[in-house]
Amino acid sequence: MTDPQNAPMPPVHGSPAPGTPEVVGILGAGRAGTAFARVLLKAGYGVDIANTRPPKALRHHLTIHAPGAQAVEPADVAARTRAHDGGAVILAVPQEELDEVDPAWVEGTVLVDATNTWQDEILPTWLEGAVIRGEPTSSAVAEHFAGARTVKALNHVSHSEFDDAAQLDLPVTQRRALGVAGDDAAARGRAMALLEAMGFDPVSLGPLAAGEVLQPEGPLFNRPLRREDLLPHAR
Ligand SMILES: NC(=O)c1ccc[n+]([C@@H]2O[C@H](COP(=O)([O-])OP(=O)(O)OC[C@H]3O[C@@H](n4cnc5c(N)ncnc54)[C@H](OP(=O)(O)O)[C@@H]3O)[C@@H](O)[C@H]2O)c1
Repeated sequence: MTDPQNAPMPPVHGSPAPGTPEVVGILGAGRAGTAFARVLLKAGYGVDIANTRPPKALRHHLTIHAPGAQAVEPADVAARTRAHDGGAVILAVPQEELDEVDPAWVEGTVLVDATNTWQDEILPTWLEGAVIRGEPTSSAVAEHFAGARTVKALNHVSHSEFDDAAQLDLPVTQRRALGVAGDDAAARGRAMALLEAMGFDPVSLGPLAAGEVLQPEGPLFNRPLRREDLLPHAR
C-alpha cells in the first residue's frame, strides 16, 4: 500500500511562475547558506540572504559564492518570501549563534531548519537542555521559533556535494533523496515541494521528532540516499 505521506507529489506548489519568481529567504550566508542559494537560483527561485553584516558588506561575497542572490538585512529575510503563502526561510546559521536570530524575523514562515549540533559548539541554554535530554534539536528550534512552522530538512547533505547532488534533469525517483520532518503537514509538504523543485527526491519522515535520524549521529547523515533508504525511518 502507498504510504499516504509519500504518495506522488501534486504539481509543485509555489513553483515560480514565468516572470515572477518565488523568493526563498536564507539566514546564514556561509558554506551551507550559499550552496542552498546557488541551487535555488539555478531552479529559478529568487533568494534573499542575510548574515551578520550589512547587505552592502555581503554583496561581494555573494558575487563569488551565490551570484544572483540578494543581500538583505536579517530582519528583512522574510519580507519578500512572505508574499508566497507565508513564505519559506532556510535556517543556515550555526546553532551557537541562534540566540542572535530574532524569532520575529521568521514569524509566519515555513522555517526549514538545516542546522546541526557540533561537539565544540557552546549552545544557547534552551538548545543545550534539549541536547542533554536527548531530544531532537529541531523540536527545541520549533519551540524557540514558535511563530514559524519548523520543518527539519537540508541538514544532512554537505555543502561540498550540494550543487552536484541537485539533479533537476533526472526523474524525481532517480534523484538523491532527502528527508523532511515536520509536525505541520502543510509546512512539510511545502518544504518537500521546494526540495523537489531544487532537484531532489524529498521523502517525508513524518513528525518533527522523526527528523532525529537526519542528525550527525544518526544513520542517514551525509549519505547519498535513495528513497528506499529513508522510507523505513518514516513514522
Ligand atoms: N557546511 C555544510 O556542509 C552544512 C550542510 C548542511 C547544514 N549545515 C548546518 O548549517 C549551519 C551553518 O553551517 P555553515 O557550514 O554554513 O557555517 P558557516 O560557513 O560558518 O556560515 C555561518 C553563516 O551564518 C551567519 N550568521 C551567524 N550568526 C548570524 C545571525 N545572527 N544572523 C544571520 N546570520 C548569521 C554567518 O555570518 P557572518 O559570516 O557574518 O558571521 C555565516 O554567514 C550549521 O548548523 C551546520 O551544521 C552545514
